Amino acid sequence: MAMIRLLVSCQPSRFTVLVFVTAIALLVVFETSRYLHTKTNHSLSYIGRVDAPRRAMSTQRDSSQKPNILFLLVDDLGYNDVGYHAKKGGSAIRTPAIDELAEQGVKLENYYVQPLCSPTRSQLMTGRYQIHMGIQHYLFEHARPHCLPLDEVTLPTKLKEAGYSTHAIGKWHLGFCHKACLPTSRGFDTFFGLYTGGGDHWYYNRSMEGHREFSGHDLHDDTAKELRNVRQYDGIYSAELFTSRAQEIIKTRQEDQPFFLYLAYKNVHFPLQAPERYKNLYRDSINNAAYRQTYAGMVSAVDESVRNLTKTLWEEGVWDNTIIIFSSDNGGSLNTFGNNWPLRGGKAFLNEGGVRAVGFVSSPLLPKAVRGTINTQLIHVSDWLPTLVRSVAGGQTNGTKPLDGYDVWQTISQGAVSPRTEILHNIDPMFDYAEITHEDQALLDSLPGDQRFDPGFRAAIRVGDWKLLTGSSGCPFWRRPPESPDLIPIQSCPGSSSNAIQLYNIRYDPRETCNVARDHKELVLKLLQRLQFYQSGAVPANFPATDSRANPLLHGGLWMPYLD
Ligand SMILES: *[C@@H]1O[C@H](CO)[C@@H](O)[C@H](O)[C@H]1NC(C)=O
Ligand SMILES: *[C@@H]1O[C@H](CO)[C@@H](O)[C@H](O)[C@H]1NC(C)=O
Ligand SMILES: *[C@@H]1O[C@H](CO)[C@@H](O)[C@H](O)[C@H]1NC(C)=O
Ligand SMILES: *[C@@H]1O[C@H](CO)[C@@H](O)[C@H](O)[C@H]1NC(C)=O
Repeated sequence: MAMIRLLVSCQPSRFTVLVFVTAIALLVVFETSRYLHTKTNHSLSYIGRVDAPRRAMSTQRDSSQKPNILFLLVDDLGYNDVGYHAKKGGSAIRTPAIDELAEQGVKLENYYVQPLCSPTRSQLMTGRYQIHMGIQHYLFEHARPHCLPLDEVTLPTKLKEAGYSTHAIGKWHLGFCHKACLPTSRGFDTFFGLYTGGGDHWYYNRSMEGHREFSGHDLHDDTAKELRNVRQYDGIYSAELFTSRAQEIIKTRQEDQPFFLYLAYKNVHFPLQAPERYKNLYRDSINNAAYRQTYAGMVSAVDESVRNLTKTLWEEGVWDNTIIIFSSDNGGSLNTFGNNWPLRGGKAFLNEGGVRAVGFVSSPLLPKAVRGTINTQLIHVSDWLPTLVRSVAGGQTNGTKPLDGYDVWQTISQGAVSPRTEILHNIDPMFDYAEITHEDQALLDSLPGDQRFDPGFRAAIRVGDWKLLTGSSGCPFWRRPPESPDLIPIQSCPGSSSNAIQLYNIRYDPRETCNVARDHKELVLKLLQRLQFYQSGAVPANFPATDSRANPLLHGGLWMPYLD
């Protein structure tokens, strides 16, 4: 009765309110469960339902917008030092967060970078080969007055034109002699990190290698308007410092603007330093406490960073509209306990251990059909500029100089055949000239045609499955992970390793064990001719002598632009 009275005689407004509130509540429950159901489908196990996005509604708005891009570049990460490669290769390193992200995305397993830090970064930023920028020799050292050529149009510049906010965190290493060389003059809205490379992981002061008298502080918090050197972060481990800055940028983003966040870790570059809690993860599996265990701990710090960042993307409601790219900048350094087994050589060499990279793309935006797949198409670090600008950001590559990179988005997202069939790994005219052996000379004399490339120069080129190395570009050994001394050593085929001309079939012999140059003279000829083609279009290498004006003593104890 009371109910009926309520229905017929009570103030209709209260009843309406009741019905309305109930309906809203049901709708919220339904929508939330639908939301969580969809999301947990392509989410990460450690995020789960309890961490429902704080700003779920903003996701809907963000989805109508261009995808955010989070580019994670890890310094000196060995091919065998990511969890999903490690088990097969006898490495004890485990990276559960990275593995899960990779499993849900597309693993790039025929993906190449350059064998050193600056060269890889220069190609990522410009989509162009080093020979076209005059930076084919070595890298940018603090006191050498050169930088990424100022007439190159950069990836962040193009993304900004396409409407993105652009942020760089971590290691720059593309030169800083002029203010115009700095990241905030090259297309980034903000920069937080080091102008140089390497250095202590807790203290952001460093001296130049071989020049201890050149010593200064190198941590900057820059905008295009203001350069600020910052000292208050000394004592905070770099992976944690950079991650928390990246989280801050994600949290304070403009909701109506997509972001490009480039996080270039200092890990796992020497010096080997890691907080105890990461090293402790390897107490039982790696007994080399001082070195390999610390190196492994440095990788685990990156894994924790990836976990933290993906959580933040999720909590901020942008997970669904973000594309994450993960890449090493070159192979693991054999001098500092990185491991590339079973690939030959490591950082600084043109062998596979130096240039074949750990890489993957992960995002709920990738079609279901490719998520969880392995992509074996040829992809190179110079491909990111056209790929991200054209296919991800919907921009154009007008204004750039002729690109060496290809747009490989169809390859990554649809499994299409890669437009790339060739990679010029490099030609370095300044590296120690190699002796041409009698065998090399005999081979050259017997080629079925003319070629003009001087194989004493250090160079390497990949065409299809074939790779030709010339000069002193190779490393003679394969290093096992120290925690697996029982692995059967890899050896090269008899008498094939010391020649200046080496040819390998990378598909069938990815470990570069058998130099088959003498059995494939037409191929050797063709690849030498391709090298000559590239060499004839190269600009001279610019590698200036060190300039004492760079000395931080002249700049308040800081590494700062010194030529303006
Ligand atoms: C979730 O994933 C399962 C298995 O991959 C699939 O069958 C299902 O359709 C997905 N659900 C949604 C809502 O995407
Ligand atoms: C950097 O600072 C730390 C702490 O003050 C000091 O121990 C270290 O020697 C310094 N390194 C350089 C290269 O100046
Ligand atoms: C990850 O987040 C936890 C919790 O906030 C924090 O303690 C840790 O330092 C973070 N690690 C990294 C590498 O950012
Ligand atoms: C590309 O074209 C757009 C639109 O015409 C223009 O605003 C922009 O400055 C160009 N970019 C470059 C680097 O030339």
